[in-house]
Amino acid sequence: MVVDAGGFAPLYDQQGEIKFEVLLKSFRQMKYDAIGIGTREMLMQRDTYNAWEKLKASRIPLATLNIAFKGKRLRDKPLIIRRGGVRVGVVSFFVGGHIPESAKEYWTIGDPEKIADEQLAYARKKADLVVAMLHGDMSQVSAFTKKHKGIDIVILSHCLEQLQTPVDVNGSLLLCAGSEGKYLGRVDAFLSGGTWRFDSQLIALDRTVPVDPLLIKTYTRYLKRVAQLSEELTKKHEEERAGEFPPVPRAQDCQSCHTAIYSRWAKTPHAHAIDSLTKKNEHQNPECIVCHVTSYLTGGFISWEKTPEYAGVQCVQCHGRMDGHIELHSGTSQKGDAPPQVQQTTCLRCHTPDQDDDFDFERDEKLIH
Ligand code: HEC
Ligand code: HEC
Ligand code: HEC
Ligand code: HEC
Repeated sequence: MVVDAGGFAPLYDQQGEIKFEVLLKSFRQMKYDAIGIGTREMLMQRDTYNAWEKLKASRIPLATLNIAFKGKRLRDKPLIIRRGGVRVGVVSFFVGGHIPESAKEYWTIGDPEKIADEQLAYARKKADLVVAMLHGDMSQVSAFTKKHKGIDIVILSHCLEQLQTPVDVNGSLLLCAGSEGKYLGRVDAFLSGGTWRFDSQLIALDRTVPVDPLLIKTYTRYLKRVAQLSEELTKKHEEERAGEFPPVPRAQDCQSCHTAIYSRWAKTPHAHAIDSLTKKNEHQNPECIVCHVTSYLTGGFISWEKTPEYAGVQCVQCHGRMDGHIELHSGTSQKGDAPPQVQQTTCLRCHTPDQDDDFDFERDEKLIH
């Protein structure tokens, strides 16, 4: 059985819409048995975008029992799934979490406490094993699990850090595989003498996992759609906004006076950061471009074809626009402020914990030029 407790939807924007559809498609290809609905999924619903239609069209059963879309409950009985001669009851509750105003127009959350015991009793009666996917933070989920007996396995929909070992809450096993698809949580369940025994493990989804040709195909199609989107954004930018952003100086513009620094910088990974994207055919993915080039759609990089001279992380990404600096030092102007001192926060714009979990300003600053 494969399930996701919810919270998988991307942040809402044009690229997010594409991602959401591709995610659902890949869930189907991976034969997901059930998904829960969380805040993220609710946020995908907009006037201009019907996430609900997409969820339904995926035909993956939605397991959440206390959420309604436009007044209609997603489900009113637990799912019963048969696998290997065993019946598994799958329930899902939204037990805690923020519901933003924009989502309330479409979604309503019922009090999980009112229906939990009845739904769990039903699942217990119809199934040999009960799995609950719960949306909420660790303390909300633990409290809920303590209060409502009869759950064998609890899957948290989100935790900041994956749980290395499951937590036992009054006999229920609580698991969370973390975020960003870095791990897959796997539970093997064994029945002997009328009692269940569980083995759980976190499987790192890294390069050691063999690639699935079907999913690669789906991802390649995603990249094509994203490249199209990128072209549209570029066109729109050029037609409507280009004038707002005067061109920023290129690294070459600094070379004549800062020759030694330029030569050192040109040998660093920053100067070649676009290559990491082209190698993976991700150089048309706006989501990646922004950190691997200079001033994306703000006076610098527009696209690999149009502005190769702005590829890579160049001087202005750290030193700012340098307005007046070149003019001052080449004698064409008397004014020009000293460029601001580069701070750690400048680096953290790109060296986020997600991208670089061992960033160390003192150490890494010495490697720049
Ligand atoms: C026409 C020559 C010239 C060009 C072109 C030039 N600079 Fe400078 N830059 C200077 C001089 C001269 C100084 C001052 C050196 C000093 O005061 O010791 C300087 C100082 C700096 C400083 C240190 C500021 C400080 O107050 O210590 C930075 C940072 C800098 N330049 C970045 C750049 C960048 C980035 C570019 C390209 C956008 C650039 N410079 C282009 C001549 C130039
Ligand atoms: C505009 C985004 C951006 C900013 C700002 C930025 N970096 Fe980077 N940095 C990158 C990218 C992207 C790479 C990876 C380059 C590649 O493709 O190999 C990188 C790589 C590096 C590397 C080499 C890889 C490694 O971890 O050893 C160092 C060192 C580094 N950055 C230090 C810094 C420091 C220090 C700052 C701030 C003073 C900074 N960076 C600011 C985007 C940025
Ligand atoms: C928030 C900024 C940011 C975004 C967005 C981003 N990257 Fe990066 N990327 C970095 C930084 C910083 C590094 C350097 C990490 C390190 O030193 O460990 C890096 C490193 C890399 C590297 C490794 C280079 C190497 O061989 O060590 C690859 C490949 C890469 N990024 C690809 C991508 C792709 C593909 C995307 C989009 C799906 C992306 N990046 C989005 C900032 C970013
Ligand atoms: C990844 C960020 C980053 C990039 C890219 C970068 N610098 Fe710097 N630069 C720094 C930091 C950090 C310092 C040291 C702190 C300070 O002086 O603000 C520095 C210092 C300087 C200085 C003054 C001190 C010195 O070493 O003489 C100059 C001049 C300078 N950089 C020019 C350049 C030029 C020219 C480029 C492009 C070829 C460039 N920098 C690219 C981050 C960067």
